[in-house]
Amino acid sequence: MRVILVGFGVVGQSFAKLLLSRSADLYSQHGIKPRIVACVDNKGSAVSPAGLDLERLLAAKKKGTVGMYEKKESFDPIHVIENVDAEVVIECSPTNLTTGEPGTSHIISAMRTGKHVISVNKGPLALAFPSLIELANYNGVMLRFSGTVGGGTPILEFAKRCLKGDRIISFQGILNGTTNYILSKMEEGLTYESALADAKEKGYAEANSALDTDGYDAAAKLVIMSNWVMGMKVTMKDVARTGISGVKVSDVGRARERSNAIKLIAACDSRRLEVRPTEVSKKDPICVNGTLNAVTFSSEHSGQQTIIGRGAGGMETASAVLRDLIEIRDTNFAS
Ligand SMILES: NC(=O)c1ccc[n+]([C@@H]2O[C@H](COP(=O)([O-])OP(=O)(O)OC[C@H]3O[C@@H](n4cnc5c(N)ncnc54)[C@H](OP(=O)(O)O)[C@@H]3O)[C@@H](O)[C@H]2O)c1
Repeated sequence: MRVILVGFGVVGQSFAKLLLSRSADLYSQHGIKPRIVACVDNKGSAVSPAGLDLERLLAAKKKGTVGMYEKKESFDPIHVIENVDAEVVIECSPTNLTTGEPGTSHIISAMRTGKHVISVNKGPLALAFPSLIELANYNGVMLRFSGTVGGGTPILEFAKRCLKGDRIISFQGILNGTTNYILSKMEEGLTYESALADAKEKGYAEANSALDTDGYDAAAKLVIMSNWVMGMKVTMKDVARTGISGVKVSDVGRARERSNAIKLIAACDSRRLEVRPTEVSKKDPICVNGTLNAVTFSSEHSGQQTIIGRGAGGMETASAVLRDLIEIRDTNFAS
């Protein structure tokens, strides 16, 4: 399978390393031999119809850009997506929850030129999920996005496949590891400000931490899940969102006295789509600590099931991309 990789940061490079370490068993177990025929970052591109040498590509990136791979002319992502022959485009550029760009344009160009898309970028899906799925169907291609929710933890697949015969009525959970880390530290007695500083120091919170603390990241994941798992047609504007910056140590203390903890809960049922700090019993399986994510699905006949796992990380997310790639190949190219 020929693949175009757009974005070569933490996730893109982890994916290249994963392919290097898994090439033998990917072929023997899944009959799949992915070839990265083009890779683009914000400063350049590398193209080879025979497949880029991934060790060399990673070495070129160490010098600043994948454009150093052969020091040939560089092309912008849209030109590469539209003109390089490939079956799949993997979108790993930065998430923008206001405009969805540059990811939305990359995804649209890929689908219009008949390429399947795997996106780890939440922006395009959070802002335009229904129309992107429509465009994928119109062009007869698949759009997959396992890595956008739960990192390597198969939250979307669990709901969509393992609970296939049942009807999911609602779900709720912790979808953002950074805010969960901050709230867990507040349980230990830190103020909101010191817990946030600690999260930044450990690399869990971005420079623009409001994306996490104001609940935007959790809301984006909630939108993706509600569309995919519940068949809704919703976007970011449909989510009622409250972040955690108003949570005080005294609130956390009062919750503790009732054997509860305050968690940033994202919830979806037929009436509401909501992200807000919520008191949760410590006996509830979704009451996980640190950077973990947890989601409980309530279904008509099989009751409640909870899935727990690490919510982010380069290699974890790369493994979700590989899962999507195998699904695309099994659906479209298996003989
Ligand atoms: N890291 C995680 O654990 C994780 C988990 C789940 C989902 N995600 C999502 O995955 C995506 C990538 O995350 P990351 O951590 O790999 O980010 P990153 O390290 O910041 O990498 C982003 C990559 O995109 C490139 N880029 C920026 N603007 C571009 C443009 N206009 N066209 C093409 N490439 C462009 C950057 O180029 P330069 O290298 O030249 O700057 C860089 O290679 C994001 O949307 C993120 O939200 C990340």
